[in-house]
Amino acid sequence: MARKIIIDTDPGQDDAVAILLALASPELEVLGITCVAGNVPLNLTTKNARIVCELAQRPDIKVFAGCDKPIARKLVTAEHVHGKTGLDGITLPDPEMPLQTAHAVDFLIDTLRHEPVGTVTLCPIGPLTNIATAMQRAPDIIGRIQEIVLMGGAYFEVGNITPAAEFNIYVDPEAAKIVFGAGAPLTVMPLDVTHKALTNRTRVDAFRAMPGRVGPAVASWTDFFERYDKEKYGSEGAPLHDPCTIAYLLRPELFSGREINVEIETGSELTLGMTVADWWRVTGRPANARFMGDVDAAGFFALLLERIARL
Ligand code: RIB
Ligand code: CA
Repeated sequence: MARKIIIDTDPGQDDAVAILLALASPELEVLGITCVAGNVPLNLTTKNARIVCELAQRPDIKVFAGCDKPIARKLVTAEHVHGKTGLDGITLPDPEMPLQTAHAVDFLIDTLRHEPVGTVTLCPIGPLTNIATAMQRAPDIIGRIQEIVLMGGAYFEVGNITPAAEFNIYVDPEAAKIVFGAGAPLTVMPLDVTHKALTNRTRVDAFRAMPGRVGPAVASWTDFFERYDKEKYGSEGAPLHDPCTIAYLLRPELFSGREINVEIETGSELTLGMTVADWWRVTGRPANARFMGDVDAAGFFALLLERIARL
């Protein structure tokens, strides 16, 4: 029986690779893709999600438009990282598959209410606006969620958009506070892990050498996407942030972390969106997240290459 998941996303090149990994993996059943404003505005994230589904030859996937701005703040986007289309690096045809008419938040609520309790996993890989809005509108869904496996936050790595905050949390810190405080089983893939999941020449060349269109598209995306992190961190290649969530569902043993307390800063302008992770357990606050700290990068890329090659 495949594991049922909903991917909540703001594509973004790394989101695209996460979606492809999920669609290439028979262990997972993607019930739907819910889009949120983040890396680029909502009209582009909904377009990009469908471009990726069609690249994977899956026009049957249900794609939903969600919130077009954070709960309580102006939208901050990241064209400087992802380009103005959000999928810069290669030009793919405009999507022909339809966008679903239902709102993403209604889809999240209805699906969690209709699927058996504890059988749907949420994989948020962008700002948490859709997830938090669904929880606020229908608190009864919280106890029905099997697990939330999200990409966001940081502890040792601290911030990538400000000195203190990671982008997904920073864009909608109020939403993150709701999700981290909801009490649903929560697994967090922070920058501490994703900055170890770096592409390199060998890995990108392996994508480029794949037959078909998918591997070369992933190579082109990472070639574009890596320049920001290379300039800023001097890193060897692009950090494949979002695919870490899907890889965790497929091979959790690739990752290690701790059950700890994680709180979200929503008051201070200086540290807004910081994930205050009690990694050393000094506060006595109850654990609310499995916060990952390490990944077997070679194993992660072996999985990713093997699966993408199937598309
Ligand atoms: O900080 C990394 C996160 O921000 C990733 O999800 C990336 O896609 C961007 O949304
Ligand atoms: Ca993302």
